[in-house]
Amino acid sequence: MTKIIYIEETNGTRHETEAENGATVMETAIMNGVPGIVAECGGACTCATCHVHVDDAWTETVGGPSMMEEDMLDFAFDVRPTSRLSCQIKIRDELDGLIVHVPTRQG
Ligand code: FES
Repeated sequence: MTKIIYIEETNGTRHETEAENGATVMETAIMNGVPGIVAECGGACTCATCHVHVDDAWTETVGGPSMMEEDMLDFAFDVRPTSRLSCQIKIRDELDGLIVHVPTRQG
């Protein structure tokens, strides 16, 4: 199991989850009831409502968005250099302890 931590930017609430490798950061948020990840398209990279800000300490390990993801991020709210769509981040051993910040709103 790989630990993924979500911090709500609205109020600083921290959600520590145990994730399955191979699942995505979005799926893990939904399974654990993390508020603020809407995921309207169910992970097809066509809605941008699963937007997160990757913690500065983790951006290099997580990596950057694909071209398709970058195009979708144009529709997200409060996009930053650390922005990713959480449905496009696959969980793997190296991401153990990953921190992502959930924006105050989606879309
Ligand atoms: Fe729709 Fe991620 S769930 S783009």
